[in-house]
Amino acid sequence: MDKIIIDGKSNLIGSIDIPGSKNAALPILVSSLLSKKNLKIHNIPEVQDIKSMIQLLKSFGVSVIKKENEVILNAKNLKNNIADYDLVRKMRASILVLGPLLARFKKATISLPGGCAIGTRPIDIHLDSLSQLGVKFKIENGFVKGVVEKELVGSKIILPFPSVGATENLIMTACLSKGTTIIKNSAKEPEIIDLAKSLIAMGAKISGSGTNTIIIKGVQNLKEANHKIMFDRITAGTFIIAAVMTKSKFKIQNVNSKYLKSLIQVLSKMKAKLKIQKNSIIVVPTSKINGININTAPYPGFPTDLQAQMMALMCLAKGNSKISEKIFENRFLHVAELNRLGANIKVVKDTALIEGNVRFRGAQVMASDLRASVSLVLAALCAEGKTVINRVYHLDRGYEKIEKTLGNCGPTITRKK
Ligand code: UD1
Repeated sequence: MDKIIIDGKSNLIGSIDIPGSKNAALPILVSSLLSKKNLKIHNIPEVQDIKSMIQLLKSFGVSVIKKENEVILNAKNLKNNIADYDLVRKMRASILVLGPLLARFKKATISLPGGCAIGTRPIDIHLDSLSQLGVKFKIENGFVKGVVEKELVGSKIILPFPSVGATENLIMTACLSKGTTIIKNSAKEPEIIDLAKSLIAMGAKISGSGTNTIIIKGVQNLKEANHKIMFDRITAGTFIIAAVMTKSKFKIQNVNSKYLKSLIQVLSKMKAKLKIQKNSIIVVPTSKINGININTAPYPGFPTDLQAQMMALMCLAKGNSKISEKIFENRFLHVAELNRLGANIKVVKDTALIEGNVRFRGAQVMASDLRASVSLVLAALCAEGKTVINRVYHLDRGYEKIEKTLGNCGPTITRKK
């Protein structure tokens, strides 16, 4: 298994162009299943989760032509509606194929999904809400089996929690359902807006994305379309936090600060200096960063996907901090590893208590989930000595060749097989 070695006491120099969003690209790739016409997607990030999703789509018979950051998908000749354990276990987002396969085949069988080891991550909201469009489900031998008894018919659905994935699954399925679907308490994440934009380009009739009520009027067929994936706001946030931690003057390019508001507000309260420009953010070094107390929350709140990175920054702040994790249970796997690097963090229920003024020291650590892994990279950049991060495959799921992208910005970071 690959490991990466990072030299500490590093600075970031220059700028980085933020790639397309993994979490927007995944459902948009899946949406190709809804149409018999070509879907051309630009700005696809080069990360493992995207490769896994393309492999899954190919297993259903989707033709995929990929050239650098562009991909053309065509689902005219689908041959299979069963998603196997081996493909699904790697990534929870595989559950997104459930609704679109049901829309095309009227039945689908999906292995229960895997993904990061962060809590139980059930799929009840996906199943309950798709049931309200006319699907009957049963769970057998680790598989979810869905059958559309008559036809998919639009309905008014109130989500018990604004689940990102369930909102995406429902929007896609509702596009090919008869009549109107109204999703109440829908997720408002920018990636949902991006999915809706792409579906609208395909001829879908969707309004209200980005709000808590989304209305979809079903259509019979979708048409050929082109879409450019939005920037990855989590990768952007990760590099902003990295620059603040390493006290670097650094420019984060190809971003829209509108979608980074909660992070910018928190960092400003901590006294970080950021210059917000039209398509970029410049981090300006400051000598002291203050501690702060925050909660993660659905968008527009502070993203759970930046919680681990923010925790690494809090270790360096003046004074103590607290983070309460309100989205996922058990999303503190990085705490023990940050403590190995010299942090002093305690977890009480859903809250991490973080002592400030820490000096990180290089050590051997283990990557446990995607965002946890990158928090170790950030701590390692500031540590005295070398840090070895084992099990890098978690990092590869969401960050484009981290040793190259980060290495190009100054730090010495190498990968060993
Ligand atoms: C998406 C993101 C992930 C991010 C998360 C929250 C993708 C590919 N992944 O994940 O990076 O951390 O949003 O912003 O876009 N839940 C249930 N039942 C369900 C569905 C969800 O109980 O049927 C719970 C989950 O266990 C979790 C919470 O709801 O505690 C949020 O999950 P959800 O919003 O669905 O996240 P994902 O779509 O899996």
